[in-house]
Amino acid sequence: NKHTMPIEEGFDHSLKLLQEGYQFILNRSHMFHSNVFETKLLAEKTICLTGKETAKLFYDNDKFTRVGAAPKRIEKTLFGQGGVQGLDGDAHRERKGMFMSLMTKESLQEISELTEEEWRKAITSWGLRDDTIVLYDESKKILALVASKWTGIPIGEDIDDWSKELGLMFETAAALGPSHWKGRMARSKIEDRVEVLVKKVRTGAIQPEQDRALYKFSWHRDTNGELVDEKIVAVELINLLRPIVAISVYICFTALAIHHYPEEVEKLKTGDQEHLKRFVQEVRRYYPFFPFTAARVKDDFTWGGYEFEKGTLTLLDLYGTNHHPDDWENPDRFEPDRFIQWDKSPFDFIPQGGGEYDIGHRCAGEWITIDIMKVSLDNLVNKMRYELPEQELQFSMNEIPSLPESKIIIRNVKRK
Ligand code: HEM
Repeated sequence: NKHTMPIEEGFDHSLKLLQEGYQFILNRSHMFHSNVFETKLLAEKTICLTGKETAKLFYDNDKFTRVGAAPKRIEKTLFGQGGVQGLDGDAHRERKGMFMSLMTKESLQEISELTEEEWRKAITSWGLRDDTIVLYDESKKILALVASKWTGIPIGEDIDDWSKELGLMFETAAALGPSHWKGRMARSKIEDRVEVLVKKVRTGAIQPEQDRALYKFSWHRDTNGELVDEKIVAVELINLLRPIVAISVYICFTALAIHHYPEEVEKLKTGDQEHLKRFVQEVRRYYPFFPFTAARVKDDFTWGGYEFEKGTLTLLDLYGTNHHPDDWENPDRFEPDRFIQWDKSPFDFIPQGGGEYDIGHRCAGEWITIDIMKVSLDNLVNKMRYELPEQELQFSMNEIPSLPESKIIIRNVKRK
């Protein structure tokens, strides 16, 4: 028995999306008493999904495809063209394997150690400064150095440029006008530089270590046994560099949580890994980052009595699913200990996408993100003292990415 999906009437609701931001889908889900509804965005019929049950549906590869789902303007800034995000089926599985092959235990251990080392150097150099430090900008530099060492992509003395330009790619992803163009320019500049490096690897002009991503991706062969186009190798290498630098956003939210929830910080002072992890997980659940992810209906199907028509743009609410009242108790409270009980469902806690890593589009870098955040949290709490002067700590609920407005200003840094 079929019924009609709740529909938000009207020609276009893009403006409301801009206004309501991260809460757009959850607001309508409450209004319609439904985790599935239809609206119009940029005059296109769009299905919105929120909550665990619909996330399960969204990650069913027989029902949805990523081909043609990402808007061009997002490809030109955030994703790059021809990368893993827009692939489907065997081509996706094969390319995703290239990413996941990097995520070994040893390699995760190494990135934690690199992160620890860069924090140590940063704390020392901040200790010598008597001006204020903008944690967001400094974190981007720490992470650009970590990313460079981990991938084998040399960035030399240009750390300020690289961290700024990799930052622009995610800072401008949702922007319009001049900011959007800044993001596009940053992307083409970095793509060109990385492509030159890939060419040099292939001619033997540079010889990175064989377990580095620069080497592995440059020599990777696709399902037909062919080397991947140099431009696309560059896009995929940037799919490592850019999001590693983006963890700076989470580092700022981590610092904000440290400030707002001192009773939770007390539990971190022994350096116990489980406590650090719970805090990090709660930062990723609680604060906004990616609002939703997009796919298109692969073939007509019916689910829960609702008809999904082939080709329909469909958004899965990431922020709202992490805050869904059906799945989370007191979702709007910051409570790291909720993760003691969490059953590790791949569908209710999805700040970096849900489902499976290998066959789905769930974030390839989720483990790295957690490890880098744990090291960063431990450094902020246990390895340094600092002051947080009066500043604008509020964050927006409709900017992507959102960030404490002052970008976390600190001063009088001392090693503990
Ligand atoms: C995909 C978020 C860090 C690499 C994704 C997706 C989200 C996401 C929402 C899409 C999931 C979907 O559409 O189903 C984040 C956030 C991060 C982060 C919030 C924290 C800053 C990283 C890191 C890396 C990475 C550190 C790599 C080192 C990727 C790749 C994909 C992806 C390659 C595409 C996967 C695919 O299409 O199969 N990420 N990510 N991300 N992420 Fe991340």
